Amino acid sequence: MNEQTWQAVDDWFCDRLIGPDDALDGALDGALAASAKAGLRAINVAPNQGKFLHLLARIQGARRILEIGALGGYSAIWLGRALPDDGAMVSLEFSPENAAVARANIARAGLDAKVTVMTGLALESLDALIAQDVPPFDFVFIDADKSNNPNYLERVLKLSRPGTVIVADNVVREGRVADPAHHEDEVVGLRRYFDMLGHDKRLETTAVQTVGSKGWDGFAITVVGG
Ligand code: DHB
Ligand code: MG
Repeated sequence: MNEQTWQAVDDWFCDRLIGPDDALDGALDGALAASAKAGLRAINVAPNQGKFLHLLARIQGARRILEIGALGGYSAIWLGRALPDDGAMVSLEFSPENAAVARANIARAGLDAKVTVMTGLALESLDALIAQDVPPFDFVFIDADKSNNPNYLERVLKLSRPGTVIVADNVVREGRVADPAHHEDEVVGLRRYFDMLGHDKRLETTAVQTVGSKGWDGFAITVVGG
């Protein structure tokens, strides 16, 4: 077992389950270009992961979706396509360059009427949404700087209702989350995120590890209770 075989299985799944798609393939190119320009590795979700998020949002019947971390808009397209005609999505992005790429990709996918990209610090955008008293979101995808996950969760809960689903990406980080030898900001943030999830009686959470084209990582999935 190694990264090559994980990649081969992801390719095999994607060949069978996810056809070519101009908007998504173009967004992937845009996201990759944006990542490369920012000196980052390709950190967009994989196609089969994007479809996983899409299906979760559909299973939940989400009409209002919040994303923290738009990057090039790839996951926003998957999630935006899960919305009904009168649905709406807000995606938060720190980098104005990434936000511009995301908006163009979202428009190319025909989703610009439903999906709004807000530029700026996500914590400030979340506080603005709270201050505006927007209706609660049904589905939230947290995929930004992991060190801030505890702060994001605190705000997201103010933008949730009983039944809201919260999915966080990259909660395993090649096992570093549970390895006491690691103290980087991102793993410290992730550990605090799990502590908050475990201690809050309103929340039911599980986490699953994943391997694939994105290496060894995982998702945490939470349902907000009453
Ligand atoms: C990485 C992957 C992600 O999906 C992300 O949101 C951040 C970082 C990574 O592999 O480094
Ligand atoms: Mg991610």
